[in-house]
Amino acid sequence: MKKIITYFLFFSSLFLSLPVSAADPSPPFTLPPLPYAENALEPYISARTLFYHYGKHHQGYVDTLNKLLKEKGLIASSLEQVIEMSSKSPALKTVFNNAAQDWNHTFYWSSMIPGGGGQPTGPILNLILKTFGNYDEFKKQFMEAGTKLFGSGWVWLVLDNHNELKIVPTKDADLPMIHDQKALLTCDIWEHAYYLDYQNRRKDYVEVFLDHLVNWDFANQNLLK
Ligand SMILES: [Fe+2]
Repeated sequence: MKKIITYFLFFSSLFLSLPVSAADPSPPFTLPPLPYAENALEPYISARTLFYHYGKHHQGYVDTLNKLLKEKGLIASSLEQVIEMSSKSPALKTVFNNAAQDWNHTFYWSSMIPGGGGQPTGPILNLILKTFGNYDEFKKQFMEAGTKLFGSGWVWLVLDNHNELKIVPTKDADLPMIHDQKALLTCDIWEHAYYLDYQNRRKDYVEVFLDHLVNWDFANQNLLK
């Protein structure tokens, strides 16, 4: 996914509204593979949920993004660059939404691992203890952020631009990178992430995410980036 973005063509289309023809009409983005089997998170998240969430919803964001880029004549192959640039242009809101949702979901899959969850180890534990006092307080605040978020969105653990650990809820497709924050892990709070398994019990889903699914090694790796 790390290819070269064609700045000139992108900016031309943004500011001059010039039609831009793609040199390579093939879709630039593809659905990244799941880091585990669709049934690997059972009994906490069912294979049925992942079949729809990954295979239909995430695939849908990728397909729509490719379609929009083609329609708008935009050549852009770095997803992060698409997100950064489209976030600054109201006219590209649908591009932003689909690009960000592609990025968010890829990050979410890696934020979970079979046999994960519980109190972390390593540098992320030290940061949690320094920031929240103890793990239970962190868990309480993360769950509150997940249950109080109105509508659809995400709950993130981030490092802000002062290198401070924060729990940050975002609405819809919004994400830390456009707020000068480094994402460490995320929990998808859209209903499609949990409704088949937990119906309206979002709190139960967020607690299961923390107790049984969080990939703390992924958070520790992101701390070092
Ligand atoms: Fe989702």
